[in-house]
Amino acid sequence: MKNIRNFCIIAHIDHGKSTLADRLLEFTHTITDREKQDQLLDSMDLERERGITIKSHAIQMEYPFNNENYILNLIDTPGHVDFSYEVSRSIAACEGALLIVDAAQSIQAQTISNLYLALEHDLEIIPVLNKIDLPSANPEEVSDDIVNLLGCDYDDIIHASGKTGFGVDKILEAIVQRVPAPKGDVNAPLQALIFDSVYNSYRGVETYFRVINGEIKKGQAIQFMATKKQYFAEEVGTLKLKQKPKDSIKAGDVGYLITGIKTASEVKVGDTIIDPKNPSEERIEGFEDVKPMVFAGIYPVDTEDYEELRSSMEKLQLNDASLVYSPESSAALGFGFRCGFLGMLHLEIIQERLEREFDMTVITTVPNVSYHAYTNKEPDKMILVNNPSDLPDPSSLNRVEEPFIKASIITKSDFIGAVMSLCIEKRGEITNQNYLTPERVELTFDMPLSEIVFDFYDRLKTVSKGYASFDYHPLGFRASKLVRVDVLINSQPVDALSALLHADNAYYIGKKMCEKLRELIPRQQFDIPIQAAIGSKIISRETIKALRKDVTAKCYGGDISRKRKLLEKQKKGKKRMRQVGNVEIPQQAFMAVLKLN
Ligand code: GTP
Repeated sequence: MKNIRNFCIIAHIDHGKSTLADRLLEFTHTITDREKQDQLLDSMDLERERGITIKSHAIQMEYPFNNENYILNLIDTPGHVDFSYEVSRSIAACEGALLIVDAAQSIQAQTISNLYLALEHDLEIIPVLNKIDLPSANPEEVSDDIVNLLGCDYDDIIHASGKTGFGVDKILEAIVQRVPAPKGDVNAPLQALIFDSVYNSYRGVETYFRVINGEIKKGQAIQFMATKKQYFAEEVGTLKLKQKPKDSIKAGDVGYLITGIKTASEVKVGDTIIDPKNPSEERIEGFEDVKPMVFAGIYPVDTEDYEELRSSMEKLQLNDASLVYSPESSAALGFGFRCGFLGMLHLEIIQERLEREFDMTVITTVPNVSYHAYTNKEPDKMILVNNPSDLPDPSSLNRVEEPFIKASIITKSDFIGAVMSLCIEKRGEITNQNYLTPERVELTFDMPLSEIVFDFYDRLKTVSKGYASFDYHPLGFRASKLVRVDVLINSQPVDALSALLHADNAYYIGKKMCEKLRELIPRQQFDIPIQAAIGSKIISRETIKALRKDVTAKCYGGDISRKRKLLEKQKKGKKRMRQVGNVEIPQQAFMAVLKLN
């Protein structure tokens, strides 16, 4: 155990985590040149395209130092706020962390929030100033920032470049010398922390764990504390570039486990693995059942595809335990599913996977957060509202609560004014203003989560000219003055377009929604009124004027192939449209409320 080092990498998106991880693997000969790919740790296609490590993984390296052989377990952490719970579990499995800071960008919000998580778990922090090869690198100033933040010495900071490989040897040495060896008792009852799991269609769910005490032996019975289910450890091993089966994984080490589990939701990240024959009573701290933050309806474009969508959702959930869904029906869209996601990125990923892996064409409705509603009749009984159309009748409502978050934004002092106005517009209240350096400031706000879901990232980027980073943590539910705004198209309410809005903004947003829908819904043979309403009161109205001519009329008698092309084009355009009553509504219309500005 004294020669094991478990560490993770904390970095803001694009500060070079994956590139540096690849260098560590190369330097320790964990991968050969032939095996080398551009970004080795990002193995999913989608991840590669987005450049975001969606699922955390782990890899083991061997490193000889001072005539001893060391085992270094690198536990990868996802880089997006949607997956922050997984980050916290990966951190809990380590004793040290590389804090990577881009020498041109300096410290960003995500660096800080993950650093706090690491400090909470008493991790040894090794600061790495990365990308020093860049002409725009500013090592002196960024070093000042790091020293200010960590209270470390300038000598503690390792200068490195994932691009040229400079400093990689120093990083490996520091991991051996500065990160403490794991503690734990091999002879105590088994306790292992699940920090990740990956679905494999042939072998079932692969569970990644860190043994805290005891050992996991191949063939033994094991139990998951949270689900109380028992399994057999069909295979255990360490994670090299490929999995390497072993007879046992002992306290302090990291490994994988295969039990033949076929459903991702049976393996809960953060759960403790124990030995049912010699059970440890203690569960490892910090287990949480992850709750979805954002909800939206997913409907097949073609109603006949409902059964196919159902089976696709089932398959998706097998390998994505954080996806939840239940059947729902919409007066406008028919049968579909109400789905819960960890955040907007997760929603996009699911939508994309449905289309790519299952060849489904779906309509996603306006996303919303979940609300707590209380009626006058039973003011203490909480009604969970995951769909605006489930909100009880306004006249019977006692109060509605919505989820709030603590938002942390780091920006240049030049943009404080602009960032503040944006946050105030988004119903934020400033709680702290902290100068990290004379030019860089951290602003903290309490804000409703729903305001973040709606176009916040894009707006923040615009108002700060790209010089702002953002992270958040949930604060719980707080009462708000919320009303449901319904949309009627051609006098028919389209429930899938309903949204819960703050009463003060409802008129303005209702009006904007009507304007936007007028732009997005194609003109048809008749006038189409679009209205926004609160209860029975119409608050806004727009009209889509009727088409004057048949689009193909001008082709009659003309070139037939041109006409066919035009029809073909129309058909394609139709793919993502949904017939509601006698009006066709395109997918963009459902997402329109997200981007009203
Ligand atoms: P996420 O996975 O999105 O969190 O990003 P990451 O932090 O893993 O960053 P990644 O390694 O993908 O690097 C981001 C970009 O910076 C890529 O275009 C890299 O080629 C580039 N990059 C990484 N390290 C260096 C470096 O040391 N020097 C220079 N010049 N560029 C680098």
